[in-house]
Amino acid sequence: MKLILAALPTLLALSFGLRVSKREICTVSSHNDPSKDDVPAISAALKKCGDTGRVLLPANQTFHIRSPLSLSSCRACDFQINGLLKVSDDWHYWRQQPAAFIVPNTTAAIIRSEGNTGIIDANFFGLLNNYTTLPPAEQQRIPKLFNIEKESYQVLISNLVIKNTPGTAFFVSSNSTALRFYGLHFANEGAVGFEIENAKHVYLWNNTIRANHACVQVRTNVENFQVEESNCIITAAEKRSTSGIEFQLVVREFASYIRNIFARKVRIAGAANGVVFWTGQHKDEYHTVEVYNATFRDFELEETAQAVYLEQCEEGKYGDGWWRAALNVSEVLFRNWSGQVERESELTCTAEC
Ligand SMILES: *[C@@H]1O[C@H](CO)[C@@H](O)[C@H](O)[C@H]1NC(C)=O
Ligand SMILES: *[C@@H]1O[C@H](CO)[C@@H](O)[C@H](O)[C@H]1NC(C)=O
Ligand SMILES: *[C@@H]1O[C@H](CO)[C@@H](O)[C@H](O)[C@H]1NC(C)=O
Ligand SMILES: *[C@@H]1O[C@H](CO)[C@@H](O)[C@H](O)[C@H]1NC(C)=O
Ligand SMILES: *[C@@H]1O[C@H](CO)[C@@H](O)[C@H](O)[C@H]1NC(C)=O
Ligand SMILES: *[C@@H]1O[C@H](CO)[C@@H](O)[C@H](O)[C@H]1NC(C)=O
Ligand SMILES: *[C@@H]1O[C@H](CO)[C@@H](O)[C@H](O)[C@H]1NC(C)=O
Ligand SMILES: *[C@@H]1O[C@H](CO)[C@@H](O)[C@H](O)[C@H]1NC(C)=O
Repeated sequence: MKLILAALPTLLALSFGLRVSKREICTVSSHNDPSKDDVPAISAALKKCGDTGRVLLPANQTFHIRSPLSLSSCRACDFQINGLLKVSDDWHYWRQQPAAFIVPNTTAAIIRSEGNTGIIDANFFGLLNNYTTLPPAEQQRIPKLFNIEKESYQVLISNLVIKNTPGTAFFVSSNSTALRFYGLHFANEGAVGFEIENAKHVYLWNNTIRANHACVQVRTNVENFQVEESNCIITAAEKRSTSGIEFQLVVREFASYIRNIFARKVRIAGAANGVVFWTGQHKDEYHTVEVYNATFRDFELEETAQAVYLEQCEEGKYGDGWWRAALNVSEVLFRNWSGQVERESELTCTAEC
């Protein structure tokens, strides 16, 4: 383990309104050996400098990620990824892990690259290019790149290049709040760029997302979600169920809703649906999902089959003993969309819509 410690009297004012403070800096050196895990050294640096300090992974170095890295000891810390983080190619190991980078119950963390040199290469978790032909049960085992979970609060991830993620790149869940994703650039497509559920105040800005299923997938119980000035590029051999922004309105044990959604200046290319609202199916009973206060403006569509698809607003019998959840939609606005689509959008709502 090589830690170079330098306490610089640098004065830094962070955007999260932290007090100007003296930061401890830990610079991590890589082993520069694909067979050696750099995670223990990074974890040690986070333990040492993670409490209001800075952990630096310098440019022009490759850090081999052979085990999950938890950022839980990053408290008001500045985690600077300026080099390349390369996930190992051991699928049999990774298929048993929920994620490569875990951000659990973490407060005021900044994970970023200075000068846009930071790259995170998920290396397809060792699946190479056959991840698309994986059987469904194995596909379920593809780890997320990042899991932001357990009431994490005020996390900023910015200016990183993301590549070779076969599954979901950023998964936000379990009552996490105030999360920002700025200037993330997907060099090639993953399955899903962002997957968000049970979260509040999630902001996406200035990202280029490439995906072969959905750029953004929002599930129920998300409040105050915004996406602005971002590009969504869908590249899928089979276009059928792809979308730019997908709302998967599954029913939770408690009230199920999405509220206060704001999307502006989003360019979507190559999707089957620009924005889609799917509802879940439920055995023996029907439920309602509330969709309240959502604005989608200044969208540009390219090679997208349909602008908006809304599954249905009424409860309905779906099959033998199965019901589709009903959507209770109000204050939903689509304004200033441009581009050409193949089909007209179906937004026929009856009953309570
Ligand atoms: C990384 O390499 C580039 C190109 O060789 C060089 O311009 C840059 O100064 C290097 N950065 C660091 C931090 O060594
Ligand atoms: C991926 O494909 C290669 C050869 O095409 C095969 O050797 C390898 O076992 C496959 N990996 C998985 C995880 O299926
Ligand atoms: C997060 O941490 C706080 C304070 O340490 C604790 O009270 C809370 O239960 C934790 N939440 C979760 C979901 O672990
Ligand atoms: C989130 O918070 C709600 C209300 O406090 C609680 O009922 C729920 O169990 C929490 N969910 C998770 C996944 O932590
Ligand atoms: C937007 O993100 C890109 C990286 O994807 C970055 O180079 C650029 O500086 C960002 N723009 C602004 C205004 O911050
Ligand atoms: C509707 O959503 C927007 C964007 O999230 C928010 O700023 C606004 O306050 C919300 N309006 C109401 C009435 O809740
Ligand atoms: C539909 O949602 C609105 C608020 O979004 C709520 O006031 C209303 O009671 C809901 N209607 C039903 C039938 O659930
Ligand atoms: C409509 O959207 C386009 C593309 O985002 C934008 O350039 C333009 O300014 C918008 N027009 C209005 C009137 O808001």
